[in-house]
Amino acid sequence: MSNRFQAPKGVPEYVPPESGEFLAVRQQLSRPAELAGYGYIELPVFEDTALFARGVGESTDVVSKEMYTFEDRGGRSLSLRPEGTAGVMRSVIEHNLHRGQLPVKVYYAGPFFRAERPQKGRYRQLQQVGVEAIGSDDPRIDAEVVALADQGFRACGLTQYELLMTSLGCATCRPGYRQLLTAFLAELDLDDATQERARLNPLRVLDDKRPDVQAQLGAAPLMVDHLCAECQEHYDRVRHYLGLMGVRWTEAPRLVRGLDYYTRTTFEFSHPLLGAQSGIGGGGRYDGLMESLGGPAMSGIGFGLGTDRTLLARESEELPPLAAPPVAAFVIAMGQAAEDLAVGVIDSLRAASVPTTTAFGSRGLKGAMKAADRSCARWAVIIGEDEVAAGTAQLKDLKTGEQTTVPVSGLISAITITQEGGN
Ligand code: HAM
Repeated sequence: MSNRFQAPKGVPEYVPPESGEFLAVRQQLSRPAELAGYGYIELPVFEDTALFARGVGESTDVVSKEMYTFEDRGGRSLSLRPEGTAGVMRSVIEHNLHRGQLPVKVYYAGPFFRAERPQKGRYRQLQQVGVEAIGSDDPRIDAEVVALADQGFRACGLTQYELLMTSLGCATCRPGYRQLLTAFLAELDLDDATQERARLNPLRVLDDKRPDVQAQLGAAPLMVDHLCAECQEHYDRVRHYLGLMGVRWTEAPRLVRGLDYYTRTTFEFSHPLLGAQSGIGGGGRYDGLMESLGGPAMSGIGFGLGTDRTLLARESEELPPLAAPPVAAFVIAMGQAAEDLAVGVIDSLRAASVPTTTAFGSRGLKGAMKAADRSCARWAVIIGEDEVAAGTAQLKDLKTGEQTTVPVSGLISAITITQEGGN
């Protein structure tokens, strides 16, 4: 057995038939963005290490502890992408997309890589669907982006998640707040590592889950109480539009995200049935990011939705499958003449968008019927010598067991009418 390979630790795989659910979830999460005019962007899976260090932040766990970094044959330091936003900014700047119509609206889907300690819902290769809207400060784009995420989760059937939201202020009001918080934290009884964290990124201490730390944070100053007038107005407008769109949220003034670039509107979708890995998606504004990566001073907002965790959330809500089985019709041909006729039958069913397969090898009618059952097809199309002679086929509904004789020319309509009826 020792000569067998396994997938790398912490890397989930989606194999048939469950992979159909993976694809369906990814599609449902992306569809709202497509309907809102976001264009698809396909990015490299690895980039310059410095892009992530500068874009995501050197002090974040994602960059300092979790990147897969390697040197290529030319001695360049590259890293597997831990997230999508920095790469999108790089690409927008490189291709001058920001000189065209604004905001630039793009979406992406694919794998990201973080060397985290694997557990259920926390993977080293994780899948996200993300959007980024670059070049507008209009609070309506914030509301649009948040609503797209909400619509995606709802399209996946989820109802039990919560949207947590806050404003993290901007370059004008955050430094003053940060000073206040730092001064407050300096008075607390915290261990050395936490004091160090308070110095590097005081906001992150607010997120410390340990009860003895939380107990001391009750009176901590909050960013939302120290927003400048512009940020306050912006956040009020975002909430106004979200209200109009019927999106419900919970104020989360202590919300802390794991990436450094966030400003103003910041949010996370949390699913209570997922335990420790409850974040099914998150995002926010990143108004200084583009500039810090050598581009123009343009703002942006986006999100990343966890495809793996959405699947787990669907499981925890015990939702029915989103995807149809991969096969709808299973063709069984008995004898050479029937096999010849089946070639055209299979072809025309596929051309009519009926997913169709057939039994390969000669295993007899019983074996072939078993294969049809296993395929989860709704229909078995059986062609024998008699059917060839009569130009007919036996059409068996594998759900009801009902079997009828239909002319070969009527097969497609017999099958597609039932499909359209939603069965
Ligand atoms: P993030 O919060 O780091 O944000 O990741 C987004 C989502 O990806 C999380 O809410 C979670 O569902 C999923 N995720 C993250 N890490 C893992 C993991 N190890 N295993 C399974 N799922 C995971 C970002 O990545 C930002 N780029 C989002 C964004 C886009 N903000 C603005 N634009």
